[in-house]
Formats: sequence, structure tokens, C-alpha cells
Amino acid sequence: MANIIEVEDLRYTYRDGTEALKGLSLTIPQGAKVALLGPNGAGKSTLLLHFNGLNLAQEGMVNVLGQEVREENARWVRGEVGLVFQDPDDQVFSSTVWEDVAFGPGNQGLHGEELAARVEKALEAVGMEAFRDKPPHHLSYGQKKRVAIAGVLAMNPRVIILDEPVAYLDPKGKDTLFEILSNLHSQGTTVIIATHDVDLAAEWADRIIIIKGGQTLAQGDTSLLADQQVVREAELRFPVVTQIFRLLPELGLPHQPRTIAEAVGLIRAIGKGEVTGQGLV
Ligand SMILES: Nc1ncnc2c1ncn2[C@@H]1O[C@H](COP(=O)(O)OP(=O)(O)OP(=O)(O)O)[C@@H](O)[C@H]1O
Ligand SMILES: [Mg+2]
Repeated sequence: MANIIEVEDLRYTYRDGTEALKGLSLTIPQGAKVALLGPNGAGKSTLLLHFNGLNLAQEGMVNVLGQEVREENARWVRGEVGLVFQDPDDQVFSSTVWEDVAFGPGNQGLHGEELAARVEKALEAVGMEAFRDKPPHHLSYGQKKRVAIAGVLAMNPRVIILDEPVAYLDPKGKDTLFEILSNLHSQGTTVIIATHDVDLAAEWADRIIIIKGGQTLAQGDTSLLADQQVVREAELRFPVVTQIFRLLPELGLPHQPRTIAEAVGLIRAIGKGEVTGQGLV
């Protein structure tokens, strides 16, 4: 199957009349690393809640693994698609960290040693094993976020979605998270993150989806992040690497680099005299 998620003309209006999604369409290829970007209030979190059946389409269609998500299969889709909420206080609620991480796989029918092994592995992955007996409400925000991530990892989902995962993680926690995500991705898991961090999106993603005002503004590869018109319309900013090379028009580059690795390659080429005012020679 080419696309693991397909959304067609999705509309969603909250009870107070707020039209959060206004005919949004997008596709997510199986095995992709997707960064979902867009300004505050664009509809990212509302959209992500549709991917695992917590929100159901009011109009239009959400298709996951070839099946339209409806009330009847919402439980199934929740096992296939794991969602880490933007706010861990919406997700972490059990009386101990261990119980919290065990909640999802327990609901999937796991118990005994199998369940314990799954929980331990997930807690170790996020570096929270020493906190297993603590009540989650005594943890720091970043620690709660780690527990919320462990709870989703423990379910072994086919698609993992993280809504703004890095905002409260320390630099090491962020690196650890991306190691975990790389491992999952190399095992075939599709990974989707909603983020405002354009540098992270440029370095990590292989597909960029930008939404604004409840509609898809653009979807494609990371070159979108260096596209002036898209960046302006999406109220984003260029990745830092791109900003630096935009200040060097005398290099005559046909397009600006977006990642540190690309920039290093270019600087090496400049050092060797392989870049002139007419670009690469
Ligand atoms: N429970 C709710 N009731 C009413 N309106 C809501 C509710 N949740 C979100 N909204 C509104 O829906 C729109 C989309 O919100 P959403 O949280 O999906 O945006 P977002 O792209 O995730 O923003 P952010 O970048 O701030 O996380 C906003 O206008 C928001 O005010
Ligand atoms: Mg949000």
C-alpha cells in the first residue's frame, strides 16, 4: 500500500461553532517521516485526533490502512495508530507511572510477564524506569511527556504520531527521542510529528505537510522549507542553515541548503574552490 493515511475534504466544527478543519486533504505514504507544520490554531491537533479515531470526520473522509475510520472501527485504529498528545496532562492520569504505561497495552489484551516486559522496555527507552512507582502528577512536565511517549511506544503501533514532542524535552531527551524514532522508522513504523521547529523538520523529515486555516497549504519534500512564498504564507521562517546561505547571494547557489550536512558539504566545496559566484563548478 502506498499511502498509510489518506484524508479527503475533511471538515470538523467544534461545538462552539469554531470551524477547525475546512475541507482538508492530504496523503501520508507508508514508512514516511512526516513533519506537520502550521501556525497556532491551524488545526494540527484537531487533525491528528482524527488519525486514531478520537475525532470522527463530520464531513469528508479519513482513511487509515485502507479502511475508513468510523465509530465501529475506532478501537481498532487506536491500536494501529499511537498518538502522543500535545499536553501530557491530557494523557497521563494513572496513579503510578508503571500503570500509566501499562494502560494501553493492557487494553490491547496483554497481561502478566508479557505486559511487564513491554512496559519496562518502553520506560527504559525514554529513561524513566527509575520513576516507575511515582505518581505522574509529581513529575516535571518534561518527565510527564516522556511517560506519555512511553505509553504509546508500549502499544507497538504501526503509525506513531507526536503532537509537538520536543517543546519541553531537554537536549538529551530530544536526542534520545529521535534515536527511538529512527529505530522505529527503520523497523517500518510511519512517524508523524506536529511541530513549530523548522530546523528539526528540515533535518529529520522526508515529507512536509503545511496546514493553515484548516486547509492544506502545501505538501512535498523539505525543499518547501526553503520556498519563500510557502514560508511566508505559512507564517514559518527558514531553517537557520537556509537563512545563513540566503545572506550569501554572491555564492550564486541555484538553491539554498536546508540541513547542517548539506551546509558542511557546501563549505567544504567552497574551501576547495569548487564554488564560484556562478554556483558549484
Ligand atoms: N475544544 C475546542 N473547542 C472549540 N474550539 C477549539 C477546541 N480545540 C481547538 N479549537 C479551535 O480550533 C482551531 C484549531 O485548533 P488546533 O488546536 O487544532 O490548532 P493547532 O494547529 O494544533 O495549534 P497549535 O500550534 O497552537 O497547537 C483553533 O481555532 C482553536 O481555537
Ligand atoms: Mg496543536
